[in-house]
Amino acid sequence: MRLGLGHVVLDPRDFRLEAFNAGLKLLDRHWVEVLFRKLDQRIAGLAGEQVFQVHPEPFDPSACSVNKRCAVSNAIPASMKAIVGPQPDGAEELAVVERQVPRPGPGEVLIEVAAAGVNRPDILQRRGLYPPPPGAPDILGLEVAGTVVEAGEGAEDHVGHPVCALVAGGGYAEYCAAPSGTCLPVPEGLSLTEAAAMPETMFTVWVNLFERGFAADGDNVLVHGGTSGIGTMAIALGQLFGLKVIVTCGSDEKCTRALELGAAVAINYRRQDFVEEVKNATAGQGVSVVLDMVGGDYVPRNLACLAEEGRHVSIAFQRGAKAELLIPDLMRRRLTLTGSTLRPRSVEFKTMVADEILRTVWPYAEGGRLKPVIDSTFPLDAAADAHARMEAGEHVGKIVLEVKR
Ligand SMILES: NC(=O)c1ccc[n+]([C@@H]2O[C@H](COP(=O)([O-])OP(=O)(O)OC[C@H]3O[C@@H](n4cnc5c(N)ncnc54)[C@H](OP(=O)(O)O)[C@@H]3O)[C@@H](O)[C@H]2O)c1
Repeated sequence: MRLGLGHVVLDPRDFRLEAFNAGLKLLDRHWVEVLFRKLDQRIAGLAGEQVFQVHPEPFDPSACSVNKRCAVSNAIPASMKAIVGPQPDGAEELAVVERQVPRPGPGEVLIEVAAAGVNRPDILQRRGLYPPPPGAPDILGLEVAGTVVEAGEGAEDHVGHPVCALVAGGGYAEYCAAPSGTCLPVPEGLSLTEAAAMPETMFTVWVNLFERGFAADGDNVLVHGGTSGIGTMAIALGQLFGLKVIVTCGSDEKCTRALELGAAVAINYRRQDFVEEVKNATAGQGVSVVLDMVGGDYVPRNLACLAEEGRHVSIAFQRGAKAELLIPDLMRRRLTLTGSTLRPRSVEFKTMVADEILRTVWPYAEGGRLKPVIDSTFPLDAAADAHARMEAGEHVGKIVLEVKR
C-alpha cells in the first residue's frame, strides 16, 4: 500500500516497515511541516525518525497539505488539560489547568488518557497531606487507561496499544507519562473506564494481602472498608484465590452489597463488634490476615481477630497513626505486624509486581472473571465532584474520571 501526503508519495519502506499493508499515521508533537522545495528528497529523511510513528490505524492524508504547517489528525498537542493539587480548601477548589504534555523518558510511554481512577490518596494529596514522591508530577492521579501514542527509548513496542498503568502521579490529565513496566494490556472485554479502575487497588491488594500477608487458598481474612475501592478488589481477588473474605462496612446497605460482591461475611461496624463477629464467623479460630486501612484503636482489636501466627498488614490509618499493643500477646501468639505504601516504591519493584499480576491475575481479567466495581464516572472537568462523592463516603467500588467521553 502506498500513502499520499499532498504531492509526496510515501512508501512503507521509507519507514523501514516490513509489512507492506501497514497503515501509517504521521505524528508530530505540534505540527508536521513538509517543505515544498525539497520534494525531491524523501520525507522520512527530511523530517527525522522521531517525527514519525507507526500505528495500526490508517492515516488520513486529507488532514495535511504540502507547504503548510498542518495539524495531523490525533497529533500530540503541546499542552493539555490537567488537575493539579494540592488545593487545601476543599474539593470545589480543584481546578482544570493547562499544562505541557509530558515527554516520555527512556523506558517510558506517553498515554493518551481515556480514563483515570480516583483513589482516597488523591483526596489526601489535594488536602496537602500526601505530597507526590520526588520526581513525580504534581498532577493528581495514580492510575490511567488509554492508548500509548509515543514511547521513549526501549518502550517502542507499546505504541498504538491500549493499556492501563500504575503511575506515581499525573493521571488526572489528557496525557500521562508512565513507566512501560507498570503498564498492563487492557483485557479483552473490559472498557477503558473499567481498566483505569484496576491498577492502584490491584497492585495494593496484591502486594499487601498476598505478598506481605501471605494469604493462601482456604485462609480466612479480615478486610476493613469492604465496599471501598480496595475492599471490592480484595473481595474479587479473594474469590479467585480461594480466600474467605470477612469485611466491615459502615451501613447495612453496604454490607448487603459486599455480600453480593462475594464477601463471605459482612459486619456493620457501626452496630456490631467486629472482634466478636470474626470469632463467630471463624469458630473461634480467628483470621490469618487482617488488611487494615483504619489504624488507631482498631489495631489492638484487629490483633484480637488474628489466629496464631496471623499477619496484620497496615495500608492506612484513617483513625489515627498511633496504636497501643500488648507485646506479650504478639509474642505468645507469634503475630506479625507489617505494612507498606505503594506510591514511593521504585519503578523496578512496581514492574516486578506488574509482571506477577500479568501472569497470575490477568488471565482471569482476560477470561471475564475479574472486573472492577464501578460506582460512578465524572468528566475530567468535574474532578471536584468526584472527590466530593468519595468524601461523602456513599460510594461502592471505584469512582472514575472519564477524560475522553
Ligand atoms: N498503602 C497503600 O499503598 C495504599 C494504596 C491505596 C490506598 N490506600 C488506602 O486504602 C484506603 C482505601 O482506599 P480507597 O481508594 O479504596 O478509598 P475509599 O473507597 O474511599 O475507602 C475508604 C474506606 O474506609 C472505610 N472506613 C473508614 N473508617 C472506617 C472504620 N472505622 N471502620 C471500617 N472501615 C472504615 C470506609 O468504609 P465505610 O464507608 O463503610 O464507612 C471506606 O470503605 C485508604 O485509606 C487509602 O489511603 C493505601
